[in-house]
Amino acid sequence: MNERIRADFPILKDIIYMDSAATSLTPEPVLEAVLSYYREYNANVGRGVHRLSQVASQKYQNAHRKVAEFIGAKEGEVIFTKNTTEAINMVAYGLRWTKGDEIVTTLLEHHSNFLPWLRLKEKGVSLKIVKPSKSGIFDISDFEHAIGDRTKLVAVTQVSNVLGTISPIKEMAAICKETGGGNDTLFLVDGAQSVPHIPINVEELGCDFLAFSGHKMLGPTGTGVLWMRDPDGLEPTFFGGGMIETVSRDDYTLTGGYERFEAGTPHISGGIGLGRAVDYLNDVGMERIRVHEERLAKKLIEGLLGIEKVQVYGSTNLSERIGVVSFTVEGLHPHDIALMLDEASDILVRSGHHCCMPLMHYLGLDDGTVRASVYLYNTKEEVDTFLELVEGIAKVV
Ligand SMILES: Cc1ncc(COP(=O)(O)O)c(C=O)c1O
Repeated sequence: MNERIRADFPILKDIIYMDSAATSLTPEPVLEAVLSYYREYNANVGRGVHRLSQVASQKYQNAHRKVAEFIGAKEGEVIFTKNTTEAINMVAYGLRWTKGDEIVTTLLEHHSNFLPWLRLKEKGVSLKIVKPSKSGIFDISDFEHAIGDRTKLVAVTQVSNVLGTISPIKEMAAICKETGGGNDTLFLVDGAQSVPHIPINVEELGCDFLAFSGHKMLGPTGTGVLWMRDPDGLEPTFFGGGMIETVSRDDYTLTGGYERFEAGTPHISGGIGLGRAVDYLNDVGMERIRVHEERLAKKLIEGLLGIEKVQVYGSTNLSERIGVVSFTVEGLHPHDIALMLDEASDILVRSGHHCCMPLMHYLGLDDGTVRASVYLYNTKEEVDTFLELVEGIAKVV
């Protein structure tokens, strides 16, 4: 990746940022798009006839269109949320559950794709949890066994935020279609770690819902997305202004499109910023980003594997993983390593359980891991500096 991209992230002049899996940095053009909303056409959307409201509404709608196109979806199928967590909860609250329904999920999941389903146990819904191998790879036949006539929903992350491994989503989608016994097993994909890093097309994936976070793909914080194949198949979670056609004293009719699911004043500047982030990613090219990150991941993994006392987690096969790399150093707590990297060389990484406690227990890693995650703005030189530091830290233990 070139200097022009680096120049769009002035924050990088003082730091090496390797925590993009938590939240990405925000390029100048996205900041400008957010500011220009406030400076030039600050107004509410969907309601006013005055000129600023018209401009704001148009730009907010355009942002939905851009995001829909980015994932190969149609306009009206994409709704803006505040993050992946809200998007997944909207599915948990918006589907009608009956006692005896089953949900199939996995042990790889982030708490955001686990707790909403665990909570449904109160409604008599049961949870089946498919286990990956210790390096995060699934045996697809485990899904064939787990999914049955009672399975209403399968909810799986496309990329693990701990191990960086990519799950076989298309194969899982096929099983949902074949095995549901004609009962329409719905398939939700948590795309929080995939949509920012690999080209995604919902038609090719074959899922029914895709949830992801705008703030992990160069967009502003407070932005996320829920794509759904059939907007009529989900009840809105929130009710209020902006999502109705008519209201009488006793009744109401809902409007169509994304507005149906976005009651109240939305995060207008955030949505517009997310649309700009999508333009930015398209300009760079998602294929190019994927290749760049694969190179960095290779360097990271090979470098870490060569350091004594360092243990790397997740598959080492680059075609089935992204640049999210978890590791530990024998004898050191992950938080101590993260602090040393920050203090010694301004390298910012994540440490701990990464909101994946069930996975951490399964891996026997109750203190968690250190997680380095890269994005389009990281360089080979930064990875070299990082590896030198980790080697130095591992030597002194
Ligand atoms: C795989 C995965 N799912 C869900 C989430 C939750 O995202 P958010 O905090 O934006 O709701 C994350 C965040 O790290 C994640 O990595």
